[in-house]
Amino acid sequence: MSKKKILILNGPNLNLLGTREPEIYGHQTFEQYLEILQDKFSKELEISYFQSNEEGQLINKLHEVGFSFDGILINAGAYTHTSIAIADAISAIKTPVIEIHISNVHARESYRAHSYLSAKCKGIIVGLGLRGYELGLNSFI
Ligand code: DQA
Repeated sequence: MSKKKILILNGPNLNLLGTREPEIYGHQTFEQYLEILQDKFSKELEISYFQSNEEGQLINKLHEVGFSFDGILINAGAYTHTSIAIADAISAIKTPVIEIHISNVHARESYRAHSYLSAKCKGIIVGLGLRGYELGLNSFI
């Protein structure tokens, strides 16, 4: 059986995980966590990773994999709350997308409670820390 192809797509400021507001986002870098995930799912999933601080690059990546991959986990960071363009890209592609947030966006500033992406996604995982990515990957098996 061939492995399913999954993309983890992280948006702005998530390159600073581990040092960025650790009381909210934890002490682990995403690169460290990605190794653990790739190891854990090595039998079932081929996991690719892309991070960008630029909206257009995130959209280009969705277009690039969105007709051939089996699943996408997206944490669009603050673009979640502002980007109709990323929402449109999720609608435009065929691959199912799961929206992830490390923190509980509903327990923070009110502007974080609205997501332009949620209605376009297959599912949403919010507030469970980095573990949300693992749960999202499990849902594609
Ligand atoms: C975040 C929540 C967003 O509101 C914030 O802008 C982020 C990270 C999260 O994973 O909790 O950059 O997406």
